[in-house]
Amino acid sequence: MNILQAQAFFDGASATLSGAKVVHSRKKLKELPGVFADSGAFARMDPETVVYEVDAHQEGEAQEGGLLFGISHVHPGKVGDEFFMTKGHYHALRNRAEYYWGLGGEGLLLLMQEDRSVRVERVCPGSLHYIPGNVAHRLVNTGLETLHVGACWPSDAGHDYQAITDAGFPARVVEKDGRAVVI
Ligand code: PA5
Ligand code: NI
Repeated sequence: MNILQAQAFFDGASATLSGAKVVHSRKKLKELPGVFADSGAFARMDPETVVYEVDAHQEGEAQEGGLLFGISHVHPGKVGDEFFMTKGHYHALRNRAEYYWGLGGEGLLLLMQEDRSVRVERVCPGSLHYIPGNVAHRLVNTGLETLHVGACWPSDAGHDYQAITDAGFPARVVEKDGRAVVI
């Protein structure tokens, strides 16, 4: 019997994912209007600044029972005093859960229930985060290095950004006296 090569390679130490079925995407500041509170600071920054990147391995079509695997890389930086972060989303199929785990850098994971109550977990190398269904999630890089976070989620989950675009998260992460604080 032929022994096949793996389709993709994941290196936790360097937080890299490679292979034919790995799709790379990047989110620039100009694609994140309204996400950060300080619109003046946002307007003064280079709109081409890359805020975060995602590598995702997709094996086949989205389907019930399928899985996706990825790494998010959130760059260090701030808009005004607010740390770089992902857009954040609920899953389009609300009951779909997800795992995140810290690979490098330091940050926070904001978790918001549909009643808008928020929980914040510290993300660091080795940290594991279970994100239940019906919970919106957003990563914030509070460090000086890139925050690398692994993720595994159902392939039919989808992303619902609208609820976040409409109302945002009730908690923001800003630098105050050299420290990351949640306000
Ligand atoms: O599936 C996830 O939750 C992650 O892969 C995110 O999509 C990734 O961190 C990018 O964040 P967002 O989708 O909120 O832009
Ligand atoms: Ni998700």
